[in-house]
Amino acid sequence: MRTKVAIIGAGPAGLLLGRLLENAGIETVILERRSREYVLGRIRAGVLEQGTVELLDRAGIGEKMHAEGLVHDGVEFCFGGDRHRFNFRELIGRTVTVYGQTEVTRDLMQARDRSGLTTVYEAENVSLHDFDGTSPKVRYVKDGVEHELACDFIAGCDGYHGVSRASVPENSLRTFERVYPFGWLGILVDRPPVADELIYAHHERGFALCSMRSPTRSRYYVQVSSSDRVEEWSDQRFWDELRRRVDEEAADSLVTGPSIEKSVAPLRSFVAEPLRFGRLFLAGDAAHIVPPTGAKGLNLAASDVAVLAEALIEFYAEQSSAGIDGYSARVLSRIWKAERFSWWMTSILHTFPDTDSFGRRIQRAEFEYLKSSTAAARSLAENYTGLPI
Ligand code: APR
Ligand code: PHB
Repeated sequence: MRTKVAIIGAGPAGLLLGRLLENAGIETVILERRSREYVLGRIRAGVLEQGTVELLDRAGIGEKMHAEGLVHDGVEFCFGGDRHRFNFRELIGRTVTVYGQTEVTRDLMQARDRSGLTTVYEAENVSLHDFDGTSPKVRYVKDGVEHELACDFIAGCDGYHGVSRASVPENSLRTFERVYPFGWLGILVDRPPVADELIYAHHERGFALCSMRSPTRSRYYVQVSSSDRVEEWSDQRFWDELRRRVDEEAADSLVTGPSIEKSVAPLRSFVAEPLRFGRLFLAGDAAHIVPPTGAKGLNLAASDVAVLAEALIEFYAEQSSAGIDGYSARVLSRIWKAERFSWWMTSILHTFPDTDSFGRRIQRAEFEYLKSSTAAARSLAENYTGLPI
């Protein structure tokens, strides 16, 4: 088999790249280790930056997102029971859209199906070869049979644990990492959200987040210790803890119910540099991880592949390698800004085991500054709704 761009991974990064290249007439094959159902079963953040919404629109897959997504003009921060709203539309004229990552993935999969393009699910033992030359190859096993896919380029969109980054010689790669000493316990529940917009809450007992998927489905999180297991958290314990960490009004109006999903996610910041090795590119979670505070993961993946698609389109249309040569530096500049923002949101909103009373006063001062300064609030708004791609 032969194609122009072999894409490893059918998460949002790989599928969106496939779509952007399809729109430019560039052929792709996607190889995905898991089944379609498994990929769609993963629950992840659900806030789309305005630039991501515009990108999905341009890619021609925005219809369902506009029909079902909830446009939010702002978010709320709650510090020790004191709740404050940041109105992004008023501050900078921009908004975000709440629409689950699972839905984005499904929309992209369905569009790819309609176009009759190849996605090989349950592709085992994917291995990358010869990407330091002009004829890269990808080998994989499907239903016990070995296959080889010859291509011009390989896009490594296979997430943090994927094979792409692992295929790069260790001495060509530099990594930067921070692991946070806590996790997020999240639950999904078929009950209306407690508020119209998201509430990010800081409390001395730990962080909490009130989010949503739709007017009837809510997503809530509480900060837990990294060693906590889901089995230790009954629904009742979760609701009791959440109520303690939010303001009184939210605690009183919270509508609880049986959880339909419950899981603990660790928090990590990670960046690999560079993101191009000959004819192999890394994009999305394969290239970087952000802690979920600020919901940048999917948005960063989308901006990476927007830049990569542009570079590849330029290569085929103009026989110019300027775009692919500049890919790594261009995306890393935006990645580090999103890393900074996610780290900052994480630092001010969580309770760290080693934070002393000075550190706690600094966290409060950050909140007071955001509340009292339009410049500070604008900076939050600009970063939350997304920096330019
Ligand atoms: N071969 C083929 N596919 C693989 C391999 C492999 N060796 N390893 C991993 N994959 C697949 C995974 O099964 C997954 O479906 O690559 C896909 C990567 O998808 P994601 O993990 O969703 O990563 P990405 O597309 O970069 O999306 C970024 O996902 O994790 C969230 O917060 C993150 O929202 C962000 C988004
Ligand atoms: C979510 O709805 O899952 C969500 C929202 C915002 C975040 C993280 C997760 O910052």
